Amino acid sequence: MLHCFRVALAILLLATCSHAFRKYRHPEIKSAIFLSPKFVLDQGSVVNKYYYNIDFPRGHIAIKGFNAEVVDEAGHPVPLHETYLHHWVLARYYQRLNATNPEQDDPKHNQPDRILVRNSGICQNNSGGQYYGLGSETRGTNTDVPDPYGIEVGNPADIPAGYEEGWMLNVHAIDTRGVEDKLGCTECRCDLYNVSKDEYDRPLRPDYIGGLRCCYDHTQCRLREVSEGAKRNLYMRYTVKWIDWDEFIVPVKIYILDVTDTWKQVDNSTGQSSEHECHVEYDVESCSASGMADNRCTDSKRISLVFPTGGYIVYGVAHQHSGGIGSALYGEDGRVLCSSIPTYGQGKEAGNEAGYIVGMSTCYPQPGSVKINVGETLILESNYSSAQRHTGVMGLFYILVAEQLPKPRLSLRVPIAKKVNKV
Ligand SMILES: *[C@@H]1O[C@H](CO)[C@@H](O)[C@H](O)[C@H]1NC(C)=O
Ligand SMILES: *[C@@H]1O[C@H](CO)[C@@H](O)[C@H](O)[C@H]1NC(C)=O
Ligand SMILES: *[C@@H]1O[C@H](CO)[C@@H](O)[C@H](O)[C@H]1NC(C)=O
Ligand SMILES: *[C@@H]1O[C@H](CO)[C@@H](O)[C@H](O)[C@H]1NC(C)=O
Ligand SMILES: *[C@@H]1O[C@H](CO)[C@@H](O)[C@H](O)[C@H]1NC(C)=O
Repeated sequence: MLHCFRVALAILLLATCSHAFRKYRHPEIKSAIFLSPKFVLDQGSVVNKYYYNIDFPRGHIAIKGFNAEVVDEAGHPVPLHETYLHHWVLARYYQRLNATNPEQDDPKHNQPDRILVRNSGICQNNSGGQYYGLGSETRGTNTDVPDPYGIEVGNPADIPAGYEEGWMLNVHAIDTRGVEDKLGCTECRCDLYNVSKDEYDRPLRPDYIGGLRCCYDHTQCRLREVSEGAKRNLYMRYTVKWIDWDEFIVPVKIYILDVTDTWKQVDNSTGQSSEHECHVEYDVESCSASGMADNRCTDSKRISLVFPTGGYIVYGVAHQHSGGIGSALYGEDGRVLCSSIPTYGQGKEAGNEAGYIVGMSTCYPQPGSVKINVGETLILESNYSSAQRHTGVMGLFYILVAEQLPKPRLSLRVPIAKKVNKV
């Protein structure tokens, strides 16, 4: 850009240059802040809500970032030691136009009223299909998609006839004010919730001691003391960043890898015909109990997964729970594709709560420098401290992958700049 102005004397050059400048300039990133519907939490209570058709920018756009946090009625951020944000998840779907009850699928129609639009992989069925998702780390984690990349949505050519695009926000939050065991409640320990059946009234396996099946919507964690008047109204406040779609945006695909994926290759080594079952959660045994771990008491869980396609990583971040000490994604030859390390808070205020993961480090590789080969076997590693037992922890890795590099757009400008320098 600077070079453009320096050639102001050379009229011919200026014409070429300003043309290039106008054509290739990054469009301005738009940003909007929305509130979810209200949810109510009392001491020890849990919400796990699915809000369909949330406010979201419409039209053919490229998402450049998405983040969310819990706020109270006055709009003040609520700290994690009061409302623990287990997770929020943003999912995309197509909704049948004029559906009579948008909250439910209408069995009278042959086609479902709502079709989930999953990310590019690699979990299947009902898990890991989201576009974005974070937990306690939400306030301190960068979700921005670097230029010139973007997550393409709202393309009318992709939306089936008779449908429109919609967005769903799932919020899972646990109120830990006045509870007996804050960590136990946030780790969804079944004894603290006095739960022996899951949300669908199915008995839990005897060895299931903690996790999402014990802290579903309306469950209650054990209180140390009960005080009246603690019930309050809360909201997710979410920020969407986007730009209007144009041909110079390079689309990226979203992949979420899960260290609990019980992956099996069905046929042959192409990696195409494989089944992924992502369990999302796992437990970490205490090193003193197992006597197995090394003296640093690290639980290191690893899994190898065949990547279905290939491309360049433009962004990466892991998701871990309290106790997490880092996660990494490696290529087949052992090179580090991205490593993501948690930051723990040190104070009381929202965004810096002691003992909680308040941010995850992210990867923004130099363009083109981190490549996954087609069908490459990746290793995902998730490390936790096993100084104490943890239930319901997670080891997810979220990457944005561009299948092609941006076109070399500077070719017009570079020779001009060289000429300028000689002047
Ligand atoms: C939806 O309803 C509007 C108004 O009633 C109608 O014009 C439109 O054709 C309907 N669309 C579909 C897909 O049924
Ligand atoms: C726990 O659940 C059992 C059976 O559902 C019930 O009888 C008991 O009162 C509950 N205990 C507490 C402390 O809520
Ligand atoms: C191997 O995979 C390819 C592509 O998925 C498929 O066409 C082929 O039939 C498979 N071969 C066997 C032996 O299953
Ligand atoms: C996915 O769901 C289908 C149908 O419900 C089921 O047959 C299949 O086993 C599931 N696959 C995995 C990996 O869970
Ligand atoms: C995870 O732990 C293993 C074993 O201690 C270590 O070799 C590895 O570097 C750790 N990885 C990360 C990402 O911290």
